[in-house]
Amino acid sequence: MAAPRRRPREPVEEQAPAPPAASAHSHDADLAELLAGLRARPKHVPSRFLYDAAGSVLFDRICELPEYYPTRTETAILRENLGAIVASIGERALLVEPGSGSSTKTRLLLEALPAPAAYVPVDISREHLSCAAAQLAVEHPGLEILPVYADFTRTFPLPLPRRRAPARIVFFFPGSTIGNFERDAAVRLLGQLREAAGRRGGLLVGVDLVKAPEVIERAYDDAAGVTAAFNLNLLAHLNRRFGADFDLAAFRHRAAWDPRHERIEMQLVSVRAQAVRFAGTTLRFEAGEPLRTEYCHKYRIADFGVLARSAGWSSVDVWTDAARLFSVHYLVGD
Ligand code: TRP
Repeated sequence: MAAPRRRPREPVEEQAPAPPAASAHSHDADLAELLAGLRARPKHVPSRFLYDAAGSVLFDRICELPEYYPTRTETAILRENLGAIVASIGERALLVEPGSGSSTKTRLLLEALPAPAAYVPVDISREHLSCAAAQLAVEHPGLEILPVYADFTRTFPLPLPRRRAPARIVFFFPGSTIGNFERDAAVRLLGQLREAAGRRGGLLVGVDLVKAPEVIERAYDDAAGVTAAFNLNLLAHLNRRFGADFDLAAFRHRAAWDPRHERIEMQLVSVRAQAVRFAGTTLRFEAGEPLRTEYCHKYRIADFGVLARSAGWSSVDVWTDAARLFSVHYLVGD
C-alpha cells in the first residue's frame, strides 16, 4: 500500500464517481497461485477466493448467526466506546477500510466522526463493493466515498479526496480479519498499513480473543449450515471462474481448533477418493484429505500488543466486552 498519490488539484466536481483501481490479481496470477496451493501437501487455497459476490452475501449471513459472536460483540464494543474512539481518530480523517464488505460497522463511525475527509472502502468483490458504496452514498450525501477494488494485502495507491484535505489517514480493520493471517504475514500487513498511514496515522483494529474452544468451534460451524455453505461456495467460485469440476457434494466443511497455534483451521474435506479437473490438469484427493481454505487466529490482548508494536504501531487504547470475547485496539504510528 502506498501513500496517497500526489496529483495536481482538479476542479471539484459534484459527486464525481471514483474510477475503481484495477489492482486485484490477473487471471494468470490467480491460476498460478491456485495451482501451487492445490498441488501442495497439505492442499490449500488463498482465502480471498471465499469472497465472490455469493460468498460476500453468505458472509453477511454468518455475521447474523446466533453462534457467530464476533460481529455482535465488536459492534457493541464500538457502540459503547464510540465517543472515546472518534475523539482518538479526530477531525478530517481519511478513513480507509481494508476488506470493507457491506461496511456495516463503518456506519457507526461515519455517523459520529467529526468531518471525515473521505471514506475509502477496499474490497476484492467488485460487485459487492460498488453496491455497498452506492448504498452508503445515499445515506451520506455529504461524504466523499472513494471505493478501491483491490486485494488489500497488496500495495495499491490510496485515492486522494477532492473536497477536504485529510488531517490523517486512519485504517479501520474490524471483524478480526487480521486473525486470518499467520503471525508473520500479520506483522507484514500491519507494517504495510503503518507505512501507508504515514505521519500521525492511526489503526482501529478488531481482534478476536482466545476463549473456550467449544465457543469458537460453534462460531465456525453453525447449526443452520451457513458457514458450511460459505466455505463450499469457494469450490463453486473456482468452477465458475476457472472451469473446474469440483463436486460440492463430495466435500464437507470442517472447522477444527488447533490449540498449539490458537487458531481455527477451516477445511473442505474430500469425502471419498476423487479426481477433479482444474485448469487443464487433474487433481487427486484421497478419502478424508483436507483442503485448507482459511485460518482464524485468536489472540490474547497483551500478545496482540506485542505483535502490533513489532510492526511499528503504539497502543493508545484497548476496549473489550464484559465477557472478554473480543477486543478493539486503537494504535498510532508516531
Ligand atoms: N474474519 C472472519 C473470522 O475470522 C472471517 C470468517 C468468519 C470466516 N467465518 C468464517 C472465514 C468461515 C472462513 C470461514 O471470524
